[in-house]
Amino acid sequence: MDSEGVKIVEQEGRLGLQIFDSSLKKYMNPYFVDFSKTFEMFSRDRSLLSQPLLKAIGVKKGVRSVIDATAGFCGDSICFLSAGLKVTSIERNFTLFEMISRERSLFLEKKPYRNLMENFNLRFGDAIDIFGEVEAPEVIYLDPMFPRKKKGKSPKEMQILQELLKENTFDVEEESSRILEASLSVATKRVVVKRPLKATFLMKKPNKSFLGKSIRYDLYLA
Ligand SMILES: C[S@@+](CC[C@H](N)C(=O)[O-])C[C@H]1O[C@@H](n2cnc3c(N)ncnc32)[C@H](O)[C@@H]1O
Repeated sequence: MDSEGVKIVEQEGRLGLQIFDSSLKKYMNPYFVDFSKTFEMFSRDRSLLSQPLLKAIGVKKGVRSVIDATAGFCGDSICFLSAGLKVTSIERNFTLFEMISRERSLFLEKKPYRNLMENFNLRFGDAIDIFGEVEAPEVIYLDPMFPRKKKGKSPKEMQILQELLKENTFDVEEESSRILEASLSVATKRVVVKRPLKATFLMKKPNKSFLGKSIRYDLYLA
């Protein structure tokens, strides 16, 4: 099964994605979403609850629910679940949606994760449309695609996303501003946007930025 230059493979109920390495002239090993890595990281190290992302979301300020409007592989959604939040994640790419839905179903069957997974909803479609169908969320989190780097500079999963979504990523900044504007009109407490550390602000200056090593989280209070 192929999709937009990316090979889709199936293994034990999971979907994996492979891209072609033109220097080695072969497909790279497939990438599978695996929620357990993030869950395990959080159960080993609770200091992760103080990382800039969760500070920006407001976990210690009493926030209880979040919409992750740009789900991707759900890495960030799983951080939110690990921090005890109720999470609705939205993805508009059908291949990615299938991947994360299957992973969610697998985890619903795993006893230690069942309770957490019950706090996890997935929706397929464009977030801007779905905002009109759900209860107004406390927080909306946005991790839009960043402008493309040369291959080899991004982590493997990001290279795969860039390849899979390359048709949609030509006007990233304009699209990102559109979804930020829509988010600001529905979130009741905050909107958080992940940006490259040195990037300009989307739309307008945020109330605060939380800095990581190579990225930052811009916080807009509703
Ligand atoms: C950079 S990735 C997000 C990665 C994610 N934070 C993670 O931890 O895996 C951006 C994702 O948002 C999705 N996306 C972008 N705009 C969207 C929209 N308006 N509605 C729904 N999904 C969107 C893209 O298809 C892509 O999968």
